[in-house]
Amino acid sequence: MSEKLVRVSSDKLRELFKNKFIANGMKEEFADRTADVLLWADERGIHSHGSVRMEYYSERQAKGGFNNNPEFKWEKTGPSTAIFHGDNAKGTYVAHEAMVKAVEMAEENGVAVVGMSRLSHSGAIGYYVEKAAEKGMVALSVVQSDPMVVPFGGSEPYFGTNPIAFAAPRAEGNKPIVFDMATTVQAWGKILDARSKNKEIPDTWAVDKNGKPTTDPWEVNALLPVAGPKGYGLMMMVDVLAGSLLGLPFGKHVSSMYADLSEYRNLGQLHIVINPDFFSSKEALIEKMEQMVQELHDQKPAPGFDQVYYPGELMNAVKEEYDKDGIPIPEDIVEFLESDRLY
Ligand code: NAI
Repeated sequence: MSEKLVRVSSDKLRELFKNKFIANGMKEEFADRTADVLLWADERGIHSHGSVRMEYYSERQAKGGFNNNPEFKWEKTGPSTAIFHGDNAKGTYVAHEAMVKAVEMAEENGVAVVGMSRLSHSGAIGYYVEKAAEKGMVALSVVQSDPMVVPFGGSEPYFGTNPIAFAAPRAEGNKPIVFDMATTVQAWGKILDARSKNKEIPDTWAVDKNGKPTTDPWEVNALLPVAGPKGYGLMMMVDVLAGSLLGLPFGKHVSSMYADLSEYRNLGQLHIVINPDFFSSKEALIEKMEQMVQELHDQKPAPGFDQVYYPGELMNAVKEEYDKDGIPIPEDIVEFLESDRLY
């Protein structure tokens, strides 16, 4: 990937994403939502889940690895539970639709647990929980990803980087709290980056084929869970909630992102939405969230830190900067987006 970065405005980037998807034959509503999710990530400095995914998404689209004519099925399984059958459509569209419905259910019944069965990659999942928090809800989302992480003490890849996202509302005019993390120390993209630059990696990121920590990016066979057995437990939790619970493939049986781009992914995701009005009230929760943020901000920073931030705060600061100066995108990605090349 080109080291040279070009500044692109949000509007322009959204248009470039959308045009490329449409040129590849993607339905307009899927193209719109996917462009929005990718932009959400790039605008907040989460570049691992923004424009860098465009060639991959486009190639998968062109090779039929997403279902462009899905038959969605909303299966309400109880007062507060449902499964949204995604029929392997664009994961971004499926996960957003499921969140809209989950918020409606939680408005009425206090809580919603919505599983999404068979979807493709849904990107940076903080996007979906933030939408719920903007409606005054507390939300959690978990999703499966392809097996590339050793279980604690193991030497073979078993779980995915299985992310967890959580959001809580704040007062009018303030951005919600959005905590959104992969359960690995580092993303696979960081290994690829080190390979391309021929740079060593810290020995805490990944292991070789014997399960031994390595600093050579070319020797990497699998990533390490964050915080040893704790991250391992969390990635298993994600896999149970988003996979086994919904009757989907689990662990090492989850499909690989890059293996066969014409194959459907059959991934699982789960949203949990909680309506504060059924516990205390939206107003009472927001008052506490404001007090919490204030108290965190008021802390004396530790040596080497300028202040304490709430989760998501730095991402919002990045967005403000990019809104003024444009989003830095690698030059070759911009060239691809502006070209007639489909992938
Ligand atoms: P990260 O390590 O950059 O950030 C993790 C969390 O820590 C974020 O909520 C961030 O706001 C917070 N944070 C960072 N610095 C902070 C500070 N100084 N003070 C307070 N909070 C701070 O995120 P990571 O683990 O690299 O994940 C990146 C993205 O990758 C996420 O959006 C995730 O959803 C996505 N992802 C998606 C996958 C998929 O298959 N769909 C798989 C794995 C990750």
